[in-house]
Amino acid sequence: MVQPNTILVTGAAGFIGSNWLNLMVPRHPNIQFVNFDALTYAGNLASVSDIASLPNYDFVRGDIRDRNAVQAAWEKYLPDTVVHFAAESHVDRSISGPIDFIETNVIGTMNLLEAFRAKVGGATSVRFHHISTDEVYGALGDEGLFTEETRYDPSSPYSASKACSDHLVRAYHRTYGLPVTITNCSNNYGPRQFPEKLMPLMILNAIEGKPLPVYGTGMNVRDWLYVDDHCEAIWQVMTEAKDGETYNIGGNAERTNLDVVHAILRVVAEETGKSYDELVGQITYVKDRPGHDFRYAIDASRVRSDLGWEPKETFESGLKKTIRWYLDNQDWIGKVRSGEYRNWIEKNYSQR
Ligand code: NAD
Ligand code: DAU
Repeated sequence: MVQPNTILVTGAAGFIGSNWLNLMVPRHPNIQFVNFDALTYAGNLASVSDIASLPNYDFVRGDIRDRNAVQAAWEKYLPDTVVHFAAESHVDRSISGPIDFIETNVIGTMNLLEAFRAKVGGATSVRFHHISTDEVYGALGDEGLFTEETRYDPSSPYSASKACSDHLVRAYHRTYGLPVTITNCSNNYGPRQFPEKLMPLMILNAIEGKPLPVYGTGMNVRDWLYVDDHCEAIWQVMTEAKDGETYNIGGNAERTNLDVVHAILRVVAEETGKSYDELVGQITYVKDRPGHDFRYAIDASRVRSDLGWEPKETFESGLKKTIRWYLDNQDWIGKVRSGEYRNWIEKNYSQR
């Protein structure tokens, strides 16, 4: 059992990391959590405001691409554990501008591994937990599931950069004996997700009477997992798994994109009193994503049998909580929709 004292958590002003900290910081008052985040367009301090004043939480604004900044954080906090969320995470952005993805996801991950390996400042190296994605496996057809043995076959610059970072993490384990674990998870949804991703974009556009842009036919399939279930899995793998282990994490909730949109519209109609038929009328089919993976689906039997992890939310219960959160958190929405956000929406959707 790994017992962390000080955890350097990268990228935890973003979606999954902030939800993880909101669960773990109050639950583990004897562990020091240091959130190291560059606050790119996707990072927002509003997502961690509930824990900001807790004594076992610190925030450092820093960029994992900057080796000196990484070393300085190590020297100051002497972390024994790393939970590595920081990444450029949006597939469409990787298609229009891949370089940031290589710099952050590949070079940034290597800078962290180097600091961990060197035990900068006399730190100990107890566990490096790397957060990755099912997208490294590429696309499935109508049948089959991704297992931990599925061959890597990434399609987008994003998934290729994540595949590269996974390989680096494993290489540091095999070559230098670093104590690492990796989780490859399916699509997360829940509170505090930046509204460029399918779920929050559709929720907000539905509420605001805007077009609902479905790529291609809407028949691509994703497996959906409520973010808190992913967060619990990360904690279990980080503290209980053997060094070098990889686990696939998924929600066993495959849906076509069109099914997801219809499910969102049903809940938005219930919660706001809007007409479901009028909401459906907002759906607009737009040009497909280049290299769009057809289907992702996860076999999570290894994490279930080794660690007893199971998702607690169903797709329906998680969706209801998520939509309620967006309806109740207008402040947060106002804060994250900066000028940069408006530029991206214009760039991505005006040419489709
Ligand atoms: P996000 O885009 O919401 O947040 C990313 C965070 O990383 C932001 O706070 C951002 O400021 C920070 N960041 C980006 N570049 C940085 C840099 N160079 N230095 C320091 N901080 C930087 O991402 P997310 O959806 O929360 O994803 C977190 C991790 O989980 C990523 O590694 C992603 O690949 C992985 N993942 C995401 C999903 C999903 O459905 N969202 C599923 C599986 C895996
Ligand atoms: O599978 C895990 C991955 O899930 C993570 O590694 C990524 O970080 C995360 O962004 C997510 O990637 P996707 O590309 O699956 O998520 P996105 O929300 O961008 O799109 C989900 C599906 O919806 C996908 O098939 C594309 C489609 N889509 C997306 C947007 C933004 C649309 O039809 N319209 C849209 O406007």
